[in-house]
Amino acid sequence: MPTVIIGTQWGDEGKGKITDYYASKYDCIARFQGGNNAGHTIVVNDKKYKFHLIPSGVIQGKKLVIGNGVVIDPSVLISEINYLKKEGIEPDLLISDRANVIMPYHRILDGAREKILGKKKIGTTKRGIGPCYSDKIARLGIRMAEVVDKKKLKERLDQIIEIKQRMMDAFDTGIKLNEEKIFEEYAEYGDELRKYVGDVPSFLNEFIRSGKKLLFEGAQGCMLDVDFGTYPYTTSSHSIAGGACIGTGVPPQKIDEIIGVVKAYTTRVGSGPFPTELSGKLGDHLVEKGGEFGTTTGRKRRCGWLDLLVVKYSCMINGITGIALTKLDVLDGLEKVKICVAYECDGKKIDSFPTFIEKCEPIHEEMDGWEKCVVDGKLTKRARNYIKFIESE
Ligand code: IMO
Ligand code: MG
Repeated sequence: MPTVIIGTQWGDEGKGKITDYYASKYDCIARFQGGNNAGHTIVVNDKKYKFHLIPSGVIQGKKLVIGNGVVIDPSVLISEINYLKKEGIEPDLLISDRANVIMPYHRILDGAREKILGKKKIGTTKRGIGPCYSDKIARLGIRMAEVVDKKKLKERLDQIIEIKQRMMDAFDTGIKLNEEKIFEEYAEYGDELRKYVGDVPSFLNEFIRSGKKLLFEGAQGCMLDVDFGTYPYTTSSHSIAGGACIGTGVPPQKIDEIIGVVKAYTTRVGSGPFPTELSGKLGDHLVEKGGEFGTTTGRKRRCGWLDLLVVKYSCMINGITGIALTKLDVLDGLEKVKICVAYECDGKKIDSFPTFIEKCEPIHEEMDGWEKCVVDGKLTKRARNYIKFIESE
C-alpha cells in the first residue's frame, strides 16, 4: 500500500506535519529526491524539531530510507544523526549506495553561479543542490558507494578533481581544490555512515511484497520540479510523484495513493514568477501570521492568494488521489479572501497552467472571509465554503 506525499505548490506547504501524521500508520518512510535544501519542522509535545535530510517519521521510530534520488551532504546527515542520538533516538536508517553526494566544490559553485547571475539569480539555498545534480547527470558525481569504499573514493576523485578545478577557475572562485584533504574528509564521513548504506531497491520491493506499509515523503513542491515547475526558477530534482519511482527503484504500478499537500494560500522562496503574490499589508500579514520564514535559510517567504491553476495542474501531473489542506487558520480574521481561478496572459484568458507565467495576471474569485475557521472543533460555514470551492474546482 505505498503512498506518496508531495507538495502541490512551491514547497513549504506543511508536508513535514502531514508526513508525520501519516507516519504513525506506516512502517517505513522514504525520501526520494532533494537534499538539505528542504526543511521540515515538526512539533512533538511542544518540542520543535527541524530536519533537512532525515525523513519525517524519525521521531516515531519508523524504518527510514534515503533513496538514490536524494543528494546527500554527509556532514549535514551526520549532524542530524548525532543530534537524534543525543535526544535518545537511534535512527533505523538505510541510505542508498547509489545516492549522489554533495562535495565542497558543489556548495562553492552554487554560490559562485548565483553571484555571476546577480539580479537574475535563482535564489537557491546555496547548499550545492544544483551543481550536485548537474554532476550526476554529467556522470561526474560521487556516490555513497564510493564514500564508504576508500579505494573507490580515491579513484573517483583522481578522475574528477581536475575537471572540477577547471570549473572553479572558470567561475573565478580563486580556490585551489586540495584532493588529499577532500579525500580525508569524505573517507571519515564514509566511516561514520558505512553501517547505514545498502541496497534500497531490493529492500523496498521486498518490504512491499511482505505487506508492510511504505510512505514516500516528497521535498519541495510540484512548481519547483525541474521539468514541470517554473523553470529555470526551480530546484534540480523531480519533486513530483513520479520522482518516487525514479528516486528509489519502486515501480510505478506499486503506488496506490498520492496525497497532495495544499497550503490554503501560496508562498514561494527565492526568485521567479508568482502571479498571485501580494505586496504590502496583506502580504506582510500572511508572513507574520503564517510564520512564513524558511526553515533552511531563514529567508522571508513571498506570500499570495491561493492559485488554483497551480493546484489543478499539480493534481494532473501528480495523479493526486487526495488533498491535505494546511494553514487555513492563517486566513482567519480577513474580511474578504480571494482565490485565483484563471490567468490573463497577453490579453487572453486561460484556465490551465502554461509553460511561462511571467506575463500572466491572476483572475480572482472573491469570497467572504471568516473570523475563525474552526469553532468548538467544527469548521465554520464560510471556511467550509472556501474548502468546498477548492474541491469543486
Ligand atoms: P521544502 O521541502 C521552498 C527553492 C529555493 C530556490 C529554488 C532552487 O521545505 O518545501 P535549490 O537550493 O534547490 O537549488 O534552490 O528552490 N527551494 C525551496 N523553496 N521550500 C523548499 O523545500 C525548497 N527547496 C528549494 O528557494 O528558489
Ligand atoms: Mg521548508
